[in-house]
Amino acid sequence: MAKKPSVKKATGKLGILLPGMGAVATTVIAGVHAVNAGKSQPIGSLTQMGRLRIGKRTGGTKKPLIKEVVPIQDLKKVVFGGWDLFDDNVYEAASHAQVLDQNLLDSLKRPLSKIKPMKAVFNKNYVKRLDGKHVKRGKTKMALAKQIMKDIENFKKDNKCNRVVMVWCGSTEIYIEESAVHQTVASLEKGMKENHKDIAPSMLYAYAAIKMGIPYANGAPNLSCDVPALVELAKETGSPIAGKDFKTGQTLMKTILAPGLKARALGIEGWFSTNILGNRDGAVLDDPDNFKTKEVSKMGVLDQILEPKLYPELYKDLYHKVRINYYPPRGDAKEGWDNIDIRGWLNYPMQIKVDFLCRDSILAAPIVLDLALFLDLAKRADMSGIQEWLSFYLKSPQAGKGLQPEHDIFKQLAKLENTLRHMVGEDLINHLGLDYYEN
Ligand SMILES: NC(=O)c1ccc[n+]([C@@H]2O[C@H](COP(=O)([O-])OP(=O)(O)OC[C@H]3O[C@@H](n4cnc5c(N)ncnc54)[C@H](O)[C@@H]3O)[C@@H](O)[C@H]2O)c1
Repeated sequence: MAKKPSVKKATGKLGILLPGMGAVATTVIAGVHAVNAGKSQPIGSLTQMGRLRIGKRTGGTKKPLIKEVVPIQDLKKVVFGGWDLFDDNVYEAASHAQVLDQNLLDSLKRPLSKIKPMKAVFNKNYVKRLDGKHVKRGKTKMALAKQIMKDIENFKKDNKCNRVVMVWCGSTEIYIEESAVHQTVASLEKGMKENHKDIAPSMLYAYAAIKMGIPYANGAPNLSCDVPALVELAKETGSPIAGKDFKTGQTLMKTILAPGLKARALGIEGWFSTNILGNRDGAVLDDPDNFKTKEVSKMGVLDQILEPKLYPELYKDLYHKVRINYYPPRGDAKEGWDNIDIRGWLNYPMQIKVDFLCRDSILAAPIVLDLALFLDLAKRADMSGIQEWLSFYLKSPQAGKGLQPEHDIFKQLAKLENTLRHMVGEDLINHLGLDYYEN
């Protein structure tokens, strides 16, 4: 049995703070209220429904619920807050997003109406298709970050929370390359005081949380906490961080299918992915600068999984194309098509077609919840900096300096499960299955 690390208990209330209270955020908030009221099930959430194999298979396999093995925060003791540039409360914003059935939302109107967004730190230069009035004013980016910190303190006090975590659910910002200003905490802070243009609002929320020792995850593809300065700060303040971009829909499918095809040494010469979606996220991504951020996030996946340099005969000429088309009639009910041209024995061609009629926010909501609860767990286990074991949830996972992120969903899951086992001192499982290993 491995040495048992100490994980503090999940006592008292946990505040989950969400910058950006649009479709995804309101779907997770309304969903948690619905689950707590016994109206529905938290499907898609490992922290609520997942099981973890513990110990050896000899003598009967034990697979308790994850939440029975590791001390996850009780869902009944979670409160939500957040920020948005529109002042709609969560009931209004969820009704506007049209993800969840209106009857369900009406039945939760009282608690949801009470959750009102705080004023956002927003700048139209970074999200060109949005304009809202519910925004903070401040002379410098540092002054704005301090206002966010004040909001967090007030929220914690008003809601009597023992701990808080933050998950960015705001719009995708324009593409910004990592540059000198992002390299150290000192350069970032200087840049914030001088209103450097490469510091977008999402980075100010990340800075505020991390500076206060609060766990932070980024659900969008913009840089946010994925810069050396914030990794350094996270280590200094003991904050676990994770990013970027929730792995839902098409990329989820890609990271399920590609490892399977590669496992069988099947060649792939083309993978064409196209989507139609009509929610506010789709409208934002209709702008080329904002789409560029998403495109970069989506493109890395196949290269890392297939390793064309190691398998040139199978993947060297792979043509990979990703398109997102804004199509308002579909709202949040996205449709993602994939055409995959594969090659088999003696180079014979075959095709796979995937038509995923998915629901974006329905897939994203359990990810937000799990990231929040697992990051809170990591904090209580004294883990800080990049949490690679949470790559499972992310399209463009953040990895340590000089390391390639892992995209294969099965390897990501093995890492997540073994990290949980390690946290509570259980033996890690390697699936060798040999008699003398008994596992
Ligand atoms: N739904 C998915 O499957 C999915 C998957 C991966 C990533 N994402 C990302 O998650 C994010 C949220 O998606 P969504 O569908 O809820 O979008 P949405 O447009 O419905 O909601 C985003 C909200 O963020 C607000 N916002 C923008 N900038 C802000 C700021 N600086 N401060 C506070 N609020 C701000 C907007 O007003 C909006 O209400 C997007 O960046 C999206 O790309 C979503």
